[in-house]
Amino acid sequence: MISLQALEDLSRDLATRSGGLSVYDMRVDGERLDGAPQRTRYAKHQTLLRSYQGRYVLLPDAAPAGSIVADLMRRYEPSAMQALDALRADLEDELINPILQKASAASAAEDARSYIEALLPTIRTAPPSRFLSYLEASPHREHHYRHFLIQSSADLLAEASASALGVIGEFGAPQSALFRILIDEFGYGEHAKKHSQLFRKTMSGFGLNTEYNAYWPLWDTPALEVHNTIHCLFQSSRHFFKQVGFLLFAETAYQHSTGEHFRYLKKHHPSVDGTYFAEHAHIDIHHTRMVVEEVVVPLIDKFGPEVGHEILTGAEATRAVFAAGDAHMLALALAFDAAAADGRARHGVRPTIPTGAAVTPEAARTVSTQFQLGGMGWILDPSAFEGFPAGSVGRMEVQG
Ligand SMILES: [Fe+2]
Ligand SMILES: [Fe+2]
Repeated sequence: MISLQALEDLSRDLATRSGGLSVYDMRVDGERLDGAPQRTRYAKHQTLLRSYQGRYVLLPDAAPAGSIVADLMRRYEPSAMQALDALRADLEDELINPILQKASAASAAEDARSYIEALLPTIRTAPPSRFLSYLEASPHREHHYRHFLIQSSADLLAEASASALGVIGEFGAPQSALFRILIDEFGYGEHAKKHSQLFRKTMSGFGLNTEYNAYWPLWDTPALEVHNTIHCLFQSSRHFFKQVGFLLFAETAYQHSTGEHFRYLKKHHPSVDGTYFAEHAHIDIHHTRMVVEEVVVPLIDKFGPEVGHEILTGAEATRAVFAAGDAHMLALALAFDAAAADGRARHGVRPTIPTGAAVTPEAARTVSTQFQLGGMGWILDPSAFEGFPAGSVGRMEVQG
């Protein structure tokens, strides 16, 4: 297990290398750790995120005042990247492997073919999203939805970049099927149709900043857990069959959930561009079919049940982190609305993203100033934060 000292040292180094561009901001909340479990877990997930982000080409939306080449050299400086990546295996061991082990055990007795046959009908007949159902009746739905978009932006502003890492190499006909799906995700080379661009439009409709990584100070632990689980799979070829399982579950779940979001936006926020969701409700029907018929089934036919189990492990791990993320989103909305009803919290955020210290519920007692909670609003009375669900993260306006 990584020591708090190692996290602190790295955190300091990442802060000095961050510069002024939000897209290259590598800060993590690894300083002044006192061993409090939620805070430590949050810092570890942030560190893993930074390691994974180092695999991407990232450019700022606008040219910086100084040299972009110098910024690029600093962000991807090899020895510093190495120091960060050196912690990756230990972090994955602690944060992600338990999820994979649980998923592996849960699917050990499943037959892959019957699992696949049952997956779509099960998802289709599942009750509506509890989070969206809550928003239907909530006068504060705009704030909750803004919060949802901010948490989702960790992944969706670079949508399919993780899965692109699973397409390079040389592995037969399934590779070409995965590549065709990837082309769709990237809008067939038409920038305005790239899925991350469609997501930007929805974010803009809620007045949000659309630059990748801009909202890192507001991402909470469950959001990072979703991001990091996906990247843990796709950034290592040893997990190839689990990557396929991720795609199997994600494409199947998405064709259903995006329809719900599209209808929700149309009803409650009709001026917001919901093309991102409409597009997925349509295209992921095809993506599911392609994953099943051209990737999953041929791979199991060729390599046997062992591969079926790996695929199911990836699918079940995805189900678990998605479900945990959804449950957290609803629990947080309920906790925040209850605090606001007592006058201890206030809905609504300002356009500036706060960059002060992070606050977790376990440390609420030690805080004396108000702080922002994601995209939802402000916690006015810190003691109200004590009962918030584990994994919640508040952010003070300035470093205190
Ligand atoms: Fe997509
Ligand atoms: Fe898709």
